[in-house]
Amino acid sequence: MGIIKDYMNQTRKPEGILGKMMILGMNMGHAGMAKWGTSFLDVRPPEQIVDLGCGGGSNLMALALKYPGSTVTGVDYSPLSVKKSKEKNKVLIAAGKCSVQQGDVAALTLADETFDLATAYETIYFWPGLEKCFAEVARVLKPDGTFMIVNEADGYDAATKKYEDIIDGMKVYTPGQIEEALLTAGFEDVKSYHHGKKPWITVIAKKKKQ
Ligand SMILES: C[S@@+](CC[C@H](N)C(=O)[O-])C[C@H]1O[C@@H](n2cnc3c(N)ncnc32)[C@H](O)[C@@H]1O
Repeated sequence: MGIIKDYMNQTRKPEGILGKMMILGMNMGHAGMAKWGTSFLDVRPPEQIVDLGCGGGSNLMALALKYPGSTVTGVDYSPLSVKKSKEKNKVLIAAGKCSVQQGDVAALTLADETFDLATAYETIYFWPGLEKCFAEVARVLKPDGTFMIVNEADGYDAATKKYEDIIDGMKVYTPGQIEEALLTAGFEDVKSYHHGKKPWITVIAKKKKQ
């Protein structure tokens, strides 16, 4: 179990050679789920997007392609994730359409009311307290801005719930738990979607207008 546990733990904060391998795996392995989740976004094309826990940066690129008029910002607390996201998006960065910074979602160094859309793919499992972190997301969103969470584990499926035993500090949430934390943190109009055949979930909420 040792090497498998060490490898799986790289999902929480990638570092070193195993982290590089995991980032490659996440960029490829999460693409289908991310595309499925993002298909539920029904918003005016956002100008400013922040992808929280951006990992290897694939979703930054996908969002920039989906919304060509946007500028995308990636945030991750792993220096390796930041480096890999910058490498992956170097063309967008050179064009002034993307930036990536190291930071913790619990204390973002981003200005208030900056973003039209915030996304979080496969990352909230590791955030230190949903309500506190969601309140930070609300702070950096413009009023009526959108927050989208996409997870491949729905909190009920036994096969994905077992990752809590393998990955240190991981917590898999049900849609109901996510919805409750969003409402407490100042969001409204919360909608959840379930894949049906897979335990994938998407939760989309709006920051209150005022
Ligand atoms: C499982 S990976 C997902 C990466 C990417 N979103 C994707 O879908 O491929 C989780 C990422 O969230 C980052 N992360 C976890 N907790 C974080 C926190 N508190 N602040 C910022 N990043 C965090 C990790 O460093 C890691 O890169």
